[in-house]
Amino acid sequence: YTTDMYPSLKRDPRFSDVTPEHIQFFKSALGEDAAVIDGVTKDASDDLEAFNTDWMRKYRGHAKLVLRPKSTEEVSRVLKYCNDNKLAVVPQGGNSGLVGGSVPVFDEIVISLSRMNKIRSFDDISGILVVDGGVILEVADNYLAEHSHLFPLDLGAKGSAQIGGNVATNAGGLRLLRYGSLHGNVLGVEAVLPDGTIVDDLGTLRKNNTGYDLKQLFIGGEGTIGIITGVSVVCPQRSKAVNVAYFGLPSFENVQKAYKEAKVQLGEILSAFELMDARSQGFVHQITGNKRPLEGDHPFYCLIETSGSNTEHDSEKLEKFLEYVMSEEIVSDGVLAQDETQAKSLWAWREGITEAIGHFGGTYKYDLSIPIQELYQLVEDTRERLNSKGLVGDDDSFPAIDVVGYGHMGDSNLHLNVPVRKYTKEVEEAIEPWVYEWIQKRRGSISAEHGLGIAKKKYIGYSRSETMIKLMKQIKNLYDPNGIMNPYKYI
Ligand code: FAD
Ligand code: MLT
Ligand code: ZN
Repeated sequence: YTTDMYPSLKRDPRFSDVTPEHIQFFKSALGEDAAVIDGVTKDASDDLEAFNTDWMRKYRGHAKLVLRPKSTEEVSRVLKYCNDNKLAVVPQGGNSGLVGGSVPVFDEIVISLSRMNKIRSFDDISGILVVDGGVILEVADNYLAEHSHLFPLDLGAKGSAQIGGNVATNAGGLRLLRYGSLHGNVLGVEAVLPDGTIVDDLGTLRKNNTGYDLKQLFIGGEGTIGIITGVSVVCPQRSKAVNVAYFGLPSFENVQKAYKEAKVQLGEILSAFELMDARSQGFVHQITGNKRPLEGDHPFYCLIETSGSNTEHDSEKLEKFLEYVMSEEIVSDGVLAQDETQAKSLWAWREGITEAIGHFGGTYKYDLSIPIQELYQLVEDTRERLNSKGLVGDDDSFPAIDVVGYGHMGDSNLHLNVPVRKYTKEVEEAIEPWVYEWIQKRRGSISAEHGLGIAKKKYIGYSRSETMIKLMKQIKNLYDPNGIMNPYKYI
């Protein structure tokens, strides 16, 4: 076995090959044939393709077997069997992850949560929602909308990402600024360990100081210590008044001024402050053909959202804010959505970037926490570096098309992206590890919200000390002594 992206990586000989006997067990354990996609005893190559390929079409696994359990007990039975038989596994949610963590590297068995998709309960007094790990984020949010509540996480991949996957990656998304991280909002986790143990920590308490908070290890654990089968999460009331504004600015310095002013004037109703550079908006325009929200070209764009309980009061505040930032020439031009449809279409200029820049062949993606003053400097430095090496340009002779920056300004989280005509070692080696050294010098993080997966595996040391990595390895070995859970990834 070799793997396309990492030719030097070798399959771990401790793991067994899947045999027809194993398949027989899984078929009996999971009941129906539909729950097992079997490429070992029969040709299922087309059905297996989607499970083996990541969202970016960058990483490709060689799994010959996909299991789709529909209950926690079934997950427990199959994991115990895999552990006893040294069969390596990859938990897979919506497969929208951006670091190659959700696809196998070699022939690991994919355990898909897609059939564990029940909303277990919702209490509209406490706002606590309890769901199966495989519930799609958008489905949960639509359900909550019917009960005047909101899922505290939102992201562009909401139509496919699952809540178990969101928790496993500790996804941040578009409104972390307002509602905080899943480390705070997730109140309980039900998970299955590799030996089949069901850890029932699916509490619904806001406060519970009784020793180590072990569920936190599953939040952001990226499927390396167990499979999340259930989640309880505290959800805020859905705001009656949601306003969205989109504006153009002349410099990154002005973006910072606008952000500071937004906190001063809109503090308690501010629910998002997102950054997009001119190039990112150019790609969205090129790919969608949609009319731009503002006339003229601006080097930077921001999207502000407010969520409150009184439309009149909030609109008045936002209009005053816009008036102020325009009169002070912090902002060059702006538009305020007049209704929900317009608000959605403004959001599409931000949420549509990932898809638009991935259109040409691929994108080198870097998801970074950086002190806010220097956030955009990295984009300029990367552009200069790739330019000086003759790697970026308009015509097809250059491997890279451009250097693009956008992100969650309110969280100091930059998404540096280099869209390419195809993935090449030349571009990768020009950026890595240089970009991580740049981050380390500023005590930033090499992964703000996407995780490490396989893409950032080699680089964990740029953000974590040896002591911390050693402790992580000890935890991994305690939970997964045979190393069957999502092997070859960051730990
Ligand atoms: P997968 O991609 O299937 O899996 C991700 C990781 O979690 C893998 O390591 C997998 O093994 C593990 N895993 C999945 N399910 C489980 C489970 N039940 N138990 C244990 N481990 C599991 N991320 C952000 O943080 N913020 C964003 O704003 C954001 N926007 C995005 C926009 C787009 C268009 C796309 C394509 C992706 C975006 N992402 C974002 C990345 C991705 O959507 C998130 O990481 C998401 O939370 C992954 O969920 P998933 O169900 O698709 O998980
Ligand atoms: C986003 O904020 O749009 C997501 O994290 C996805 C990306 O980085 O492209
Ligand atoms: Zn993001």
